[in-house]
Amino acid sequence: MSYYVTTPIYYVNGEPHLGHAYTTIAADVLARHMRQRGEDVFFLTGTDEHGEPVTQAAEKLGITPRELGDRHAVRFKQLAATLNATNDFFIRTTDPEHMEKVAQVVRRIHDNGHVYAGTYEGWYCPRCADFKTESELEDGNRCPIHKIELEIEKEDNWFFRLSTFQEPLERLYAERTDFVIPRNRYNEALAFIKSGLRDLSLSRARLKWGVPVPWDHSQVIYVWIDALLNYYTALSYAREDEDLTERYWPAHVHLIGKDILKFHAVIWPAMLMAADIEVPRRVGIHGYLLLGEHKMSKSLGNVIEPFHVAEVYGADALRFYVLREVSFGADGEVSPEGFETRYTTELANEYGNLASRTLAMLSRYRDGVVPDAAPAPRLQGEFEDLADTVCRRLDAIELTAALDEIWQRVKLLNRYVQDEEPWQLSKDEGAAEQLDQVLYSLAEGLRVVSVLLHPFMPGSAERLLAALGQEDLSLDGARLGAVGGGASIAELGQLFPRVEPPERSAA
Ligand code: ME8
Ligand code: MG
Repeated sequence: MSYYVTTPIYYVNGEPHLGHAYTTIAADVLARHMRQRGEDVFFLTGTDEHGEPVTQAAEKLGITPRELGDRHAVRFKQLAATLNATNDFFIRTTDPEHMEKVAQVVRRIHDNGHVYAGTYEGWYCPRCADFKTESELEDGNRCPIHKIELEIEKEDNWFFRLSTFQEPLERLYAERTDFVIPRNRYNEALAFIKSGLRDLSLSRARLKWGVPVPWDHSQVIYVWIDALLNYYTALSYAREDEDLTERYWPAHVHLIGKDILKFHAVIWPAMLMAADIEVPRRVGIHGYLLLGEHKMSKSLGNVIEPFHVAEVYGADALRFYVLREVSFGADGEVSPEGFETRYTTELANEYGNLASRTLAMLSRYRDGVVPDAAPAPRLQGEFEDLADTVCRRLDAIELTAALDEIWQRVKLLNRYVQDEEPWQLSKDEGAAEQLDQVLYSLAEGLRVVSVLLHPFMPGSAERLLAALGQEDLSLDGARLGAVGGGASIAELGQLFPRVEPPERSAA
């Protein structure tokens, strides 16, 4: 089966921050997990470089939007690499191949009769690049997201007949109740559709930075239309001599934050229908990472810096933390203190120590070779359906729940060592077989949790598996007892070494 997963393409109007890292991490977990299942995976991320948000930011800096795009696209690429993300391509909406394909699809929408010339008059937030209704505004006619004062815009431009897609969209939602997940977001999108859809400006007359409207070069295509199409256009040129569209379209899941739900759950499927292109299977929505009480963002300037955390603690720790701390789908607070606590109590103590103790005992009591035995019945039951449960959770895009299933087994293995006290068994010659079973079960348990943790913490899981003399990452092997004894273990070192917390000001 082919599996195509995407992140939003991020605006290049500022530096990447933890919020961007979050979606990329989540998408990478799904991509890696599906590869473990033997699926044919394509994972796309990239940057959104046209439109007002980028033009205005560039103006402020006194540089061109292209210069700003070049500067920040590099940073977003570095972010993906720093996070150890395995994206198969990085799209930039300034790629000429993308722009050409956007023009083609928009032309098709036009030729299919879904475009007309009209006048837009209403509120518009240049930072959102979004049209706002009166009821959405906050006091003082402010954007509810960016808090900036908005003005009424009036301009002649090309309109997309979004309103005529109300019924087809309602049908789509009726037929596919998992088109948007989680459920509360599905309900929100459906309510929005049912409240009545207004036609949408498809172009901007005042802007120069974008894809020219194919039949009217005085206008550029509205940045959201241009941006959404990235998911489709990328497949046509990501590989030099192969068009991947047939192979991967429709996308299996678009992962996004809740801020851009309307675009992905309403406008995007309507655009695709208008262009006679299949709609994606799913849109998976996550909440906001909150730092203090505000949604973290460039505009508000309170940001945990992902490059810094990855450099000091490693990408795995960052990946683990964001998916563990905040239930995927909901909003939740993150903080440097919370990060340090989980790093120490869970990564270093629960997983790291379990690994070093197990390896140390194998080397001390069994000359560094995993003994042959049957897995302890006490663990067997608890591990029985684990891999299947993790698959089900990840199919439902419940990343935090999947991680928690695995982590419960890490805790269980810790209790198991405490209860069995292999250091006592080692003193009793009559307990040799029992010690074999305990050591084998620990090695095997660690192997299984590490295979399952691999999508979440690829570097650490691989190191630990290598120390256990294992390299098979496939999910087929993620069963207690699937691998017998006999492997020779190797040196591991500290998986999650102690890090001196930085001085924090008492502000
Ligand atoms: O909206 N918590 O780009 P963008 C969680 N270019 N996720 C967050 C977050 C936070 N505090 N902040 C950002 C755009 N994100 C458009 C998208 S797609 C065709 C075009 C993540 O740079 C989350 O995925 O504003 C959110 O949807 C996205 O970054 C917005 O990135
Ligand atoms: Mg944004």
